[in-house]
Amino acid sequence: MAKLGFTWFVFVLLLVFGFVVSTREIAVTPPLPILPLPSASQLKWQQRELIMFLHFGMNTFTNSEWGIGKENSSIFNPMGLDANQWVDVATDTGFSLMILTAKHHDGFCLWPSQYTEHSVKSSPWKDGKGDVVREFVDAAKIRGVDIGLYLSPWDRHERRYGQELEYNEYYLAQLQELLSRYGSLQEIWFDGAKGSEAPNMTYYFGDWFSMVKELQGSNINIFSDAGPDVRWVGDEMGYAGCTSWSTINRTLLKIGDGSIVGYLNTGDPRGTDWVPAECDVSIRPGWFWHKSQTPKSLSQLLNVYYKSVGRNCVLLLNVPPNSAGLISDIDVRRLAEFQKAIQNIFSTNLAEQCSITASSQRGGKRGGFGPQNVLDNDHLWTYWAPGNESKDKHWIEIIGLKKGFRFNVVRIQEAIGLGQRVEQHEIYADGNRIAKGTTIGYKRLHRTQGVVQARQVRILIKKSRGLPLISSIGLHFDPFWHPKIS
Ligand SMILES: *[C@@H]1O[C@H](CO)[C@@H](O)[C@H](O)[C@H]1NC(C)=O
Ligand SMILES: *[C@@H]1O[C@H](CO)[C@@H](O)[C@H](O)[C@H]1NC(C)=O
Ligand SMILES: *[C@@H]1O[C@H](CO)[C@@H](O)[C@H](O)[C@H]1NC(C)=O
Ligand SMILES: *[C@@H]1O[C@H](CO)[C@@H](O)[C@H](O)[C@H]1NC(C)=O
Repeated sequence: MAKLGFTWFVFVLLLVFGFVVSTREIAVTPPLPILPLPSASQLKWQQRELIMFLHFGMNTFTNSEWGIGKENSSIFNPMGLDANQWVDVATDTGFSLMILTAKHHDGFCLWPSQYTEHSVKSSPWKDGKGDVVREFVDAAKIRGVDIGLYLSPWDRHERRYGQELEYNEYYLAQLQELLSRYGSLQEIWFDGAKGSEAPNMTYYFGDWFSMVKELQGSNINIFSDAGPDVRWVGDEMGYAGCTSWSTINRTLLKIGDGSIVGYLNTGDPRGTDWVPAECDVSIRPGWFWHKSQTPKSLSQLLNVYYKSVGRNCVLLLNVPPNSAGLISDIDVRRLAEFQKAIQNIFSTNLAEQCSITASSQRGGKRGGFGPQNVLDNDHLWTYWAPGNESKDKHWIEIIGLKKGFRFNVVRIQEAIGLGQRVEQHEIYADGNRIAKGTTIGYKRLHRTQGVVQARQVRILIKKSRGLPLISSIGLHFDPFWHPKIS
């Protein structure tokens, strides 16, 4: 009898123990996403932050921006061309993807296309046996850098341009060469430019985009004014809107339509498609290299960075190789300064090792969605989520040690893997409002009017689509930022 009682006792004990262990181990589920969501390749693109554009071709030798198409191939001769140098510069200065102009509006092809004579084939460079695209791709592959290409639809050399069917076949044939000969591409760049020689020329973007996905699969992002994967930001200064949604209605977008630039710039809080914006701008005044031009100053580049990467976008910075076929030393030095400055500003997060608290948290203290998640190194999948029961405005607050912090940049990031949500937010330092804004998205950087010295920094989410999910917060000091100059 006593033996049976003991067995029962052990059994009940195990049951209770098992229950306690299992209730401890069952995790609180993440919140549901808010559609639309980014694709895996769009998420990868977003995290790059910087992409390098290389405008290189006939214009590099004629001191022009738009060639007329009648340039003599004999002038294309970049004697010192070294694509390894291009890629080394990119890897040294923080770029993981590089996009080359395989053909610009003048129609001259940087690869030996079998559909035209107007290419490297008929140039003196490497006795007509060279292939710039091949050298670029090989140099990038060896260094683990991803590649993209631009193929201009507008072609001022090709006689078929203006004959709708014939030219679209010609373009598609060239696109197939680029997409099948050079391995995997991560981005392909289209614009809708057209000339007065054939203003009504229709480009068969639908056919072209389908061919891209067929030959390259889902890893490639197609850029154009209208996406489908990445959209134009609507200007060539590299500035996104202060409000910057990755969501937009694709049905309202048309490639080459000047009336939608405002919509492209801000996106649409109710947009049904995830098509984030890419900010294209050149490090120099022109897109192509010109002997007389010099690169932007460091403070200009940083200003572009804050207004692109700091507004939920990716910066596509053009760095044009010169007529020797190299990126000029002066640009290399400026890029190095730019990279060093970004490192300098963002490698130290003053909010680290502070205590952090929030208005509420999903699943309570043990839920795994607490505010400390904003201080880890995962800027996507660990995040602070408020409890759904809270009716108040949601906030998160960083409390420093006695001395407090001295900063002039606040970084906020949303967990965009679950959709873009925040519509309005404000930042307070010791109770005083120091910044306010609308969207956050993948990354929002606020530069404050002056240097802030404070012990408590609170981020208040005033409005969001569903619960706000914040993945990272940083307080930084930017020694290059003086509000008076910008
Ligand atoms: C191009 O330039 C070369 C060398 O100067 C010359 O021989 C040739 O005739 C030119 N071609 C055209 C079409 O002008
Ligand atoms: C282009 O289209 C417009 C409007 O449809 C028309 O008025 C114009 O004549 C066309 N131009 C050419 C060069 O075909
Ligand atoms: C985008 O589409 C959504 C859903 O249909 C709609 O609510 C919204 O008004 C549209 N945006 C614009 C600018 O028309
Ligand atoms: C809030 O979240 C809890 C836990 O996920 C869930 O059981 C509850 O139904 C939610 N309440 C509302 C109003 O959504």
